[in-house]
Amino acid sequence: MHLNTLPLFFFLISGIFCQYDYDPYYPSEPDYGYAPSMYGPSTAVCAPECNCPITYPTAMYCDNLKLKSLPIVPSGIKYLYLRNNMIEGIEENAFDNVTDLEWLILDNNHLENSKIKGRVFAKLKNLKKLHINYNNLTEIVGPLPNTLDDLQLTHNKISKANPNTFEGLVNLTVIHLQHNALSEDTLSGVFKGLNSLLYLDLSFNKLSKLPLGLPPNILMLYFDNNQITNIPAEYFKGFKALQYLRLSHNKLTDSGIPGNALNISTLVELDLSYNHLKSIPTVNEHLENYYLQVNQINQFPVSSFCKVVGVLAYSRVRHLRLDANNLTRADLPHELYNCLRMAAEISLE
Ligand SMILES: *[C@@H]1O[C@H](CO)[C@@H](O)[C@H](O)[C@H]1NC(C)=O
Ligand SMILES: *[C@@H]1O[C@H](CO)[C@@H](O)[C@H](O)[C@H]1NC(C)=O
Ligand SMILES: *[C@@H]1O[C@H](CO)[C@@H](O)[C@H](O)[C@H]1NC(C)=O
Ligand SMILES: *[C@@H]1O[C@H](CO)[C@@H](O)[C@H](O)[C@H]1NC(C)=O
Ligand SMILES: *[C@@H]1O[C@H](CO)[C@@H](O)[C@H](O)[C@H]1NC(C)=O
Repeated sequence: MHLNTLPLFFFLISGIFCQYDYDPYYPSEPDYGYAPSMYGPSTAVCAPECNCPITYPTAMYCDNLKLKSLPIVPSGIKYLYLRNNMIEGIEENAFDNVTDLEWLILDNNHLENSKIKGRVFAKLKNLKKLHINYNNLTEIVGPLPNTLDDLQLTHNKISKANPNTFEGLVNLTVIHLQHNALSEDTLSGVFKGLNSLLYLDLSFNKLSKLPLGLPPNILMLYFDNNQITNIPAEYFKGFKALQYLRLSHNKLTDSGIPGNALNISTLVELDLSYNHLKSIPTVNEHLENYYLQVNQINQFPVSSFCKVVGVLAYSRVRHLRLDANNLTRADLPHELYNCLRMAAEISLE
């Protein structure tokens, strides 16, 4: 069959480019776009050392103040920023005047689990966001209130988790745990029952296997920069909505990825770059972005993308990165052009 009738454009990429189109849940600075110079004078109810913008009087900013303990938080405050201080602990009654606090942002402090007392977070009946990135935590904090939707604990030294730590958190949507010291044994079962969870980032941890018991509705799952060697054949079978999966910078080999382990029908983007693969794992025809750079791939079987090729049977891959492998253009088979008819970009060298 001579099928080279459809256009296929090759863009050879060199250097680094931003491969992900977007990442809507990456930790951002949700501070209303205020620069410090735009703050109005503090209102009467603001703690004297902090700032409460006139236009957002329910927000209190106490960033960069070298605070060793919490300021007095007046009632009425809903959004509390305490970034870049030296806070080591939180007393159990610290927020008793503001039990309707919605956002509590504690990034870049010196918080330790043993100095966060009692049910201080669980008492906050409206808490939606809790950010304790860049601190000195060794365990996932808790107990947590069941109103929580966004938990960020990145860049700590977390290696422990109470198995019930997320129990009942029916609205928890986003969990950032990247840059910690978590292993699969600690995490297995911890996330079960989180039926609203859409985003889970476990990159830069100490996983050598995928954790068991992840909730089925998850949309984005990041496991990059761990030591994962294999993917059990049935692991992704129960996932109903998974669209983005990152497994780059692990220790995956061909034998660690059985046949259809990564043929996930809902998947849009798959990152397997920086592993030890010699062949291309089979993917579903709906996949759009496939990253395989920096492996040892030396063959290009079309069957990894298309089991059969036909009018309606073709791969939706648009971006395919194969640079820094053992492949040249001459290794690409001719049938490829019909199977990968949507490809806008295949990078090889
Ligand atoms: C609560 O508010 C009262 C009255 O403003 C104040 O005296 C007290 O220190 C506050 N408590 C905390 C923990 O901030
Ligand atoms: C973090 O905790 C360790 C011991 O657990 C301590 O040596 C270190 O100084 C702490 N770092 C900060 C920034 O508090
Ligand atoms: C979860 O979110 C829904 C919709 O926003 C809300 O009605 C419900 O009260 C929330 N549940 C809890 C436990 O906060
Ligand atoms: C992926 O799995 C589906 C069944 O879920 C199957 O029909 C399809 O042929 C598989 N894709 C490849 C390339 O083998
Ligand atoms: C690359 O592939 C060629 C043949 O396809 C093989 O001879 C060579 O050893 C391979 N190199 C590496 C580094 O795997």
